[in-house]
Amino acid sequence: MEYKHQIKTLEQYNEAYKESIENPDSFWAQIAETFTWRKKWDSVLNWNFTEPKIEWFSGGKLNITENCIDRHLETMGNKPAIIWEPNNPDERTRVVTYSRLHKRVCQFAQVLKNNGVKKGDRVCIYMGMVPELAYAVLGCARIGAIHSVIFGGFSAQSIADRLVDAAAEYIVTCDGAYRGGKDIPLKDVIDDALIGNKTVKRVIVYTRTRTPVSMIKGRDVWWEDEMEYAETQVEKDNVVTMPATEMDAEDPLFILYTSGSTGKPKGVVHTCAGYMVWTYYTFINTFNYNQGDIHFCTADIGWITGHSYILYGPLSAGATSVLFEGIPTWPNAGRFWDIIEKYKINILYTAPTAIRSLMGFGLEPLEGKNLDSLKILGTVGEPINEEAWHWYDEHIGKKRCPIVDTWWQTETGGILITNLAGVTPAKPTYATLPMPGVDPVLVDENGQILEGGNVSGNLCIRSPWPSIIRTTWGDHERCRTTYFTTYPNLYFTGDGALRDENGFYRITGRVDDVLNVSGHRIGTAEVENAINMHAGVVESAVVAYPHDIKGQGIYAYVIFNGKHGDAEQTRKDINATVSRIIGAIARPDKIQFVPGLPKTRSGKIMRRILRKIAEGETSNLGDTTTLLDPGVVDEIAAGKI
Ligand code: PRX
Repeated sequence: MEYKHQIKTLEQYNEAYKESIENPDSFWAQIAETFTWRKKWDSVLNWNFTEPKIEWFSGGKLNITENCIDRHLETMGNKPAIIWEPNNPDERTRVVTYSRLHKRVCQFAQVLKNNGVKKGDRVCIYMGMVPELAYAVLGCARIGAIHSVIFGGFSAQSIADRLVDAAAEYIVTCDGAYRGGKDIPLKDVIDDALIGNKTVKRVIVYTRTRTPVSMIKGRDVWWEDEMEYAETQVEKDNVVTMPATEMDAEDPLFILYTSGSTGKPKGVVHTCAGYMVWTYYTFINTFNYNQGDIHFCTADIGWITGHSYILYGPLSAGATSVLFEGIPTWPNAGRFWDIIEKYKINILYTAPTAIRSLMGFGLEPLEGKNLDSLKILGTVGEPINEEAWHWYDEHIGKKRCPIVDTWWQTETGGILITNLAGVTPAKPTYATLPMPGVDPVLVDENGQILEGGNVSGNLCIRSPWPSIIRTTWGDHERCRTTYFTTYPNLYFTGDGALRDENGFYRITGRVDDVLNVSGHRIGTAEVENAINMHAGVVESAVVAYPHDIKGQGIYAYVIFNGKHGDAEQTRKDINATVSRIIGAIARPDKIQFVPGLPKTRSGKIMRRILRKIAEGETSNLGDTTTLLDPGVVDEIAAGKI
């Protein structure tokens, strides 16, 4: 496959960037031309940020799976689309060619149809990292069902809330999932999530771990039985056909829930055409992907990174994408390096937290590992610290692989600010320059746009790129107030950034009450709500503190009703409550019992003070005179853990 719009030189980048800002319609029309459309669009872009209303390629008809699969069949049918590496290195790997992927996706799309799923229906997917997860996602897309993938680390309660919010009628899950040394009983969690649920009609269960599961008559069916039946429907005389449903460019493709500064996660909605064009364009350009390269993105498909850079981006480019079921440190800290050697990986795209955790094991796990195949390294999800950047550069890339530091968000659908591998310059800890089509600005707290270099402010984007969030599921007003009203006529990212004298951006982290723990977004309000569910907790306040491996750790200040007895035991109970309500990823790293919280006279918690204490600052806490009870600050500082 030829990538006509791949940027190869700095001049080309500058030209493309200029063109994309000055003439977005013709710029994106040219790129969109390279896809397979059932019907071309009537207009490239219609937008306003006040409602907001954003339409890309309006009037166009297509199906994203025809672009990710069918169009590659003739020339690349036998090329591996997905290489699956199981959790246990002794288990057999699976190589899924584009033809095989086509067959499986068609089969599963037929399974969905057979079970009553129609265009526009919401299908919740709660699975481990197995190829069947890819078939489930793409099977939904093939018939126009809206997938909502939920990361396997979320609890039954979190799933239950998401099922209700999306009014999902269908679930695809596994009996269990392997993650390192653990078996996670996914179907059990789904069963708990379904207690009291009124909308779900069908649960399709894939067998991965052979964990005993309850199968409820009339509701639960086995993936294997359904697939076998569907095979005879979609395959005749060795020819597989299962027509893809024609979708409008702006029909929803998926919902992905993410945390914000309120207690309730919101369903970010992405639509078909814009998302497809953006994930393709950013994939081929960020990683300078060449035909035949093996791309390894270590994220989970439960997060946006997995959606965009394991599945849709690479597959739309006819790439080979590695899907890894396990974790970087099991059975030992050489796991990634073994995978790189085994498949001769060319592009490694991972998170700073993984790099920091592997750094902690020293160089021994790298001994004897051949990493010569690597050409490009990438990071995503959180700011990368200088030390981790240099370790990655020196010990993994051997100083010959460009590192792309890619900044983006669930809401942006794909990468917005990054250097382009080997094409635009890198600068450690800087995401550097915007992608063509992205017009970033920094604003001060009054919304004044800051010009020039060496300035810091809140990061906003001035105009839409093709995969910008369209709405939050079921609540458009929430989308408007969260992203489009803080600064009129700008999309507000929630991040702070600085811009250097060359116009390079460095993302400094969230400026709202959102934590970034191991690259996972968690709202402080969500964690507080969960802690407050524990009997005995009167009130709590959660802040981030710097954590060597996770980037940010969760520090919780808890007012308890005085009867907790053994504090350590109570901490465990609180953690168990948080696991139950949200999931283990949101468990506080530190819990300090406090007599009160620093509040202003109007009752607002002064988080600034709590953050300082959590960061280890016990004096210089700033002005505390406006507090209702300034004395409480000293008590909290004295009790810091
Ligand atoms: O704070 C930024 C941080 O992660 C947030 C988005 O999280 P999420 O929607 O879960 O998506 C993560 C994967 C795209 C951002 O608001 N973030 C992401 N990438 C970077 C980053 N911070 C600094 N540098 C990055 N490269």
